[in-house]
Amino acid sequence: MLETNFANNLFKNPFMNASGVHCMTVEEMDQLAKSEAGAFITKSATIAQRKGNPKPRYRSLDLGSINSMGLPNEGIDYYLDYALQKQEEQDVPIFFSIAGMSPDENIQMLEKIEKSSFKGITELNLSCPNVPGKPQAAYDFEATDAILARIFAFFKKPLGIKLPPYFDLAHFDAMADVLNKYPLTYINSINSVGNGLFIDTDKEQVVIKPKNGFGGIGGEYVKPTALANVRAFYTRLNPSIQIIGTGGITSGRDAFEHLLCGASMLQVGTQLQKEGVPVFDRLSRELKEIMTEKGYDHIEQFRGKLKEM
Ligand code: FUM
Repeated sequence: MLETNFANNLFKNPFMNASGVHCMTVEEMDQLAKSEAGAFITKSATIAQRKGNPKPRYRSLDLGSINSMGLPNEGIDYYLDYALQKQEEQDVPIFFSIAGMSPDENIQMLEKIEKSSFKGITELNLSCPNVPGKPQAAYDFEATDAILARIFAFFKKPLGIKLPPYFDLAHFDAMADVLNKYPLTYINSINSVGNGLFIDTDKEQVVIKPKNGFGGIGGEYVKPTALANVRAFYTRLNPSIQIIGTGGITSGRDAFEHLLCGASMLQVGTQLQKEGVPVFDRLSRELKEIMTEKGYDHIEQFRGKLKEM
């Protein structure tokens, strides 16, 4: 009932983790691989291992989360070695995330992936809001165009990019014009809403240490923004570019809404952090219940079919 076609592969359901959550170590990735998730993605890698920002750098909130992790990760070789070995045991491809500190670092990592025997799907994260001094690359349309031109001159494996949220129709138009020039497999909308501020009123203090308390906001707070980004790109991108919907998925109903907007796969971050890997079982069950209530027996019967008034 929940089978999903994505990047020419059939996944048992559309759910997966959002990169950054439960995917830093081999142990966590193994748990995802064994879970009810339809797929999983690795933590965004840099060339060298990174410790990330000082702690506390993640806070769960009643309506979501705030984080400023700063791309802590074990370095590309750790994740690539794991993916190369794990892909032999999997019947669906692994998603592999990278987030270089510069365009050249992204090119270097993509060259390594291209030359390797990796058979999965690569996600280029152009939207991390948490590295001090590094703006979110995909807010610069010309720089995004330039890096994609360099990448597609040599990269032949499936590639998606993770985008930050946009808030203006002119920006959706401008970014869609850039993306439509390239043979992208997918976009992932959205990363966290960057540089929010959550305050502990009793202590009159911020709740995370890096960047004076500013951090990426996820969870229920961001669902309307995430749905708008999925819908805006679904109605602007070439149909060959699929969409992963990420942002505010806490229930089967949220998942249904993302699919209705046009998403093909769904990533779960904040709620996975709160609930652990059993979240995928619950979300799948709840999505099936809603589909049954509505008389759908396949996602394609309603995917993208949001009605306007
Ligand atoms: O700070 C982080 O590691 C988060 C990365 C991201 O949101 O892309």
